[in-house]
Amino acid sequence: MNIDAVRARFSSLQGGFAFFDAPGGTQVPDEVGQAIANALREASGNLGAPYATGRAVEAILARAKDDAARFLGCDADEISFGMNMTTLDFALSRTAGRDFRGGDEILTTQLDHDGGVAPWVELAEDKSLVVRIAAATDELTVDYDDLERQLGERTRVVAFAIASNATGSIADAKRICALARDAGALSWVDAVHYAAHEPIDVRELGCDVLLCSPYKFCGPHLGIAYVRREPAETWRPYKARPSKLRFETGTLPYELLAGFSATIAYLDTIGGIEAIRTYERELGERFLSGLPESVTLYGPPTMAGRVPTFLFNVDGVPADDAAHRLAGRGFGIWYADNWYCVALGKRLPEQSLRAGIAHYNTAAEVDGLLEALGQLS
Ligand SMILES: Cc1ncc(COP(=O)(O)O)c(C=O)c1O
Repeated sequence: MNIDAVRARFSSLQGGFAFFDAPGGTQVPDEVGQAIANALREASGNLGAPYATGRAVEAILARAKDDAARFLGCDADEISFGMNMTTLDFALSRTAGRDFRGGDEILTTQLDHDGGVAPWVELAEDKSLVVRIAAATDELTVDYDDLERQLGERTRVVAFAIASNATGSIADAKRICALARDAGALSWVDAVHYAAHEPIDVRELGCDVLLCSPYKFCGPHLGIAYVRREPAETWRPYKARPSKLRFETGTLPYELLAGFSATIAYLDTIGGIEAIRTYERELGERFLSGLPESVTLYGPPTMAGRVPTFLFNVDGVPADDAAHRLAGRGFGIWYADNWYCVALGKRLPEQSLRAGIAHYNTAAEVDGLLEALGQLS
């Protein structure tokens, strides 16, 4: 990866501020913004208009579905777009759960983001379902023994985050999907954090549903859902009846879909997620091996089984104070309590810091951050 050439494509990276906040949303290359502006200029219309702007919108939608299908390894008709992952997850869980009965169970994990849990909690409230939580190990990875113990005859869905947005831990998604399948349950993958760091092939994973959000990988604020064709065809969606789209409600944000296609084109030109993975992992190793002794890391201690997202505290320095001081020195690091991971929050300190490495970060930025962390206490 030619990092200087990559960074030159982002106006937002020219100011010298080091963004380590990708888990909350990445920086966006200028060409994506340009594609959004172009769509608004040249394709402001709606599906069905029997003239140029209608055809332009149709082409944007078709291309975006093809791009998303290629990104996730499925067919275009298995893709749905929505406002964000959480909104799509609420809609799809309602649709899938129409025939669930009182006492049916949804199995989640302690590492999950609430965007992947709250939809089931609310459905459970309405339909008297039971939401279970598989524990995390001391290293804050999925405890597979506990997950298997909690999987039973009443399990209808196993919903889990393939990478934790808090600790960076990666779950063995193939294993969990196989366990779900053997138990007759749907496997429902939250890939919002994972998609920015690791290539995805839904057929290889064997999942029924997978969701991600392009704004975590240099795209616009959108959500994407893959739903495997077979279950999708048996579900009755909540939508306006004349719509020809399967799960999508109302008019889609076509300009953002054009931006999404520009994002995929951008990723292709830098070698795709494969190239990003290799580059980011080197930076991740560098970060871990240079951590000052004053830093306590929560989660996997090496790059094995994780993405380069690091949760930690600096001895004797409250996280909010540390984050503000780091921002003053030009490093964008967030502090928070549970990081939207409600179950995991009970295992975390009251506040912690999170540094997320993205492919546009440099070795010099990582070294600068390590030095600044060392000088905090
Ligand atoms: C792992 C994970 N799941 C779900 C979400 C929610 O995604 P969205 O903001 O697209 O609703 C996030 C957002 O940070 C996330 O990191």
